[in-house]
Amino acid sequence: MAMHGIYNYQDLTLKSFSVLNEIESNFVLEMRNHPEVASWMVGNIKIDRQSHKQFMANQSSETRNFNYLAYDADGVAGVVSLHRVDRYNEIAWLGIYKNPFRSEKGLGRKILKAICHFAFEVAKLHTFKIEVVSNNAAAIRAYSAIGFKNEGVWREAVKRDSDYLDLVLMGMTFSEWVGHEKK
Ligand SMILES: CC(C)(COP(=O)(O)OP(=O)(O)OC[C@H]1O[C@@H](n2cnc3c(N)ncnc32)[C@H](O)[C@@H]1OP(=O)(O)O)[C@@H](O)C(=O)NCCC(=O)NCCS
Repeated sequence: MAMHGIYNYQDLTLKSFSVLNEIESNFVLEMRNHPEVASWMVGNIKIDRQSHKQFMANQSSETRNFNYLAYDADGVAGVVSLHRVDRYNEIAWLGIYKNPFRSEKGLGRKILKAICHFAFEVAKLHTFKIEVVSNNAAAIRAYSAIGFKNEGVWREAVKRDSDYLDLVLMGMTFSEWVGHEKK
């Protein structure tokens, strides 16, 4: 199926990174490098402009990683992604961050619901996974609320200063999603 387009879900529009203009692309970098986003990424590194440009240029030829800029009526709501899409096993990993320049409660959950709908109903996945640093309480709460279940941890997998934090593994199956979306 085509994954490089523009999709609507409720009041959100998901626009593939492969069709973003330069202003949108620059704003993605600004959000990604914002401390409230970067500090929760496993890599925790600042992305330089040249690497970002190259990353964006490669988007239209991506076959396993699909990123979307999410808009609602108030502008950019965040970024959501399907990573490591495995068509045989019908599985992928979630990527998500809300627009760090917006602070309304529930924004993350709204874009989370949109990417779950996209993953199960458009990309036709059977299982959707997420890996989250164990001290990311807001993310774990949002994932649990929408139906992701705890599936274990990779112990001390993430380095933060001189500490090693666990990486929490969470997942949701298609049948669990159907139950949750209808609530
Ligand atoms: C993960 C993310 C998208 C969630 O979005 P959000 O808008 O914060 O999520 P919501 O407001 O919908 O839900 C967060 C929940 O956690 C709660 N919460 C927020 N901060 C919290 C904290 N420090 N400790 C505990 N709970 C917290 C909120 O109250 C809310 O719960 P409630 O609705 O039951 O009251 C957003 O926090 C984000 O972009 N974080 C930075 C990037 C990131 O961490 N990405 C995920 C990497 S795996």
